[in-house]
Amino acid sequence: MAEAAPATNGTKHIDNSDSAIAQANGSPATYSAPSRVTLHLGHLPSKKDIKAPWPRTPSRVDPNNPPWPAYRGYHEYSFAHATMGVRLPTILGKAIDDTSRTLNEQYAEDKIVDLVECLERMDSLMADLSGNAKLRPIIDDGEGDVALWNKEIAKYFQGKDFMNAPWLFAEAYKYRRLHECFSVSKYWKDYDVFYRQKCDTFSRSTDAVFELSMRFAEPFKQSENMSDKEKAENERLMFLELTQVCLWGNSTDLSLLINMTEEQIKSLQSTGGDHLAATEKNILGNHLNQLWETVKVLREKTGGRIDFVLDNAGFELYCDFVYADFLIQTGLAKQIRFHGKRYPWFVSDVTRKDWDWLLNTMVYGHLFPKASEAERESLRRLGARWKQYEKDGRWQYEQHPFWCTGYTFWDLHSEAPDLFLHLSRSDLVYFKGDLNHRKLTYDCAAPASVPFDISIGPMASAAGAPKICSLRTIKSDVVVGLGDDGDAIAERLDKEEPGWKISGKYAVVLLSEGRPGEKVRFA
Ligand code: F6P
Ligand code: MG
Repeated sequence: MAEAAPATNGTKHIDNSDSAIAQANGSPATYSAPSRVTLHLGHLPSKKDIKAPWPRTPSRVDPNNPPWPAYRGYHEYSFAHATMGVRLPTILGKAIDDTSRTLNEQYAEDKIVDLVECLERMDSLMADLSGNAKLRPIIDDGEGDVALWNKEIAKYFQGKDFMNAPWLFAEAYKYRRLHECFSVSKYWKDYDVFYRQKCDTFSRSTDAVFELSMRFAEPFKQSENMSDKEKAENERLMFLELTQVCLWGNSTDLSLLINMTEEQIKSLQSTGGDHLAATEKNILGNHLNQLWETVKVLREKTGGRIDFVLDNAGFELYCDFVYADFLIQTGLAKQIRFHGKRYPWFVSDVTRKDWDWLLNTMVYGHLFPKASEAERESLRRLGARWKQYEKDGRWQYEQHPFWCTGYTFWDLHSEAPDLFLHLSRSDLVYFKGDLNHRKLTYDCAAPASVPFDISIGPMASAAGAPKICSLRTIKSDVVVGLGDDGDAIAERLDKEEPGWKISGKYAVVLLSEGRPGEKVRFA
């Protein structure tokens, strides 16, 4: 199943007509040569609608050829086009502004000169992005992911550019190149162009931050007057509510909502019970009940371990912590591993520095001058409790290099077997957010009725695959796991609510069966 190549400037158009073929074969020409040659692409999927009737044979799937047609920057109908053409240059422009601001704050000449060179590299990245340059190898800057990047480029993307490589790869590549602008410098290797913005979202989320801290600072305790049955039901309801808090915490990511007012952020972040009952209707693929069935048995296991493959810093990480705290306090999990990024990634993603910042600002910060003393105290208590979890090892932060590569998670078991083995020991792995979902599902045009287990390939079918739960507000084209009526649901929304796939209004909570307990085998 080949995909239509983009018509780029300077491409020759070839005529497939009988007369042109006869001429090419050396048959006597009985007509004059055509002034213009045209290639007919009728047999290829249309650029307007790349829905394919069946998936690619698994053995022929590779990063340039996902199971269903890839979204690419030149697909004008997809979010890939707006992202590659407009959003990424805008994000890079803001990153240049941030770096210039830092430059203006410096006094030491060697650091200034070094940062000016970072800015020059950012300018040439901007030129490559806007000029749709070919993807070149990553410079060896000593990062643990260089070999993975360059192998993937050499094997699948030689000669590809930002617009005709699959969107997922091209977008990740841009963030890797942005990191390279700094990683090859002397003084600015760890500079985070998004740090100011990330801190800012948390301080602009005042209402939701205190709504949660005032409710959850006091450790979770069941009322003595309740029967065991009532207690169990209470715990179930809390679990469902906090799973939704964790889910919707993802709707305010910076890469999309950069210009939101505080009012708009507030309405997205409402966390009350009624609000959550209403928003459950927007969870189009909803395995919340199966999730509870999976989690509730963990308490009986000695050493239940849950993993979070994190997404965004600030408010979303705070919601993840509220949820993880509940899982620890109720004994549903004994140990939680959080997986973050090694360097700035897709604007808002969590790095070690963002993790430390959040915990420390909660305990020591002066971020909310208008808050009451009771509110500030509730935040301090939560922060202190969470820092203690980290000290005693119940919470652990990890940052494997694979998370910042262009590979999808279909290749996790083959390209990062150590990480796969590590995850296979978990009882449940949550993947947060849109990008993780795109990577789980190969970011391709699979029909919305395709079951989640099928769409994530080896992450569900490989021996040792853990149970996986994707908590994702829908912000891009790929949508799967909507059940047997999924195609009809997606078609109706396409007609009635154009833009439903990027608004963050809808979500999925999808759970895979996994193959836990099976020994991991590597080819
Ligand atoms: O730019 C593409 C994208 O992956 C979108 O799909 C999404 O809006 C954003 O970047 C990242 O979203 P998230 O932080 O939820 O992964
Ligand atoms: Mg993100």
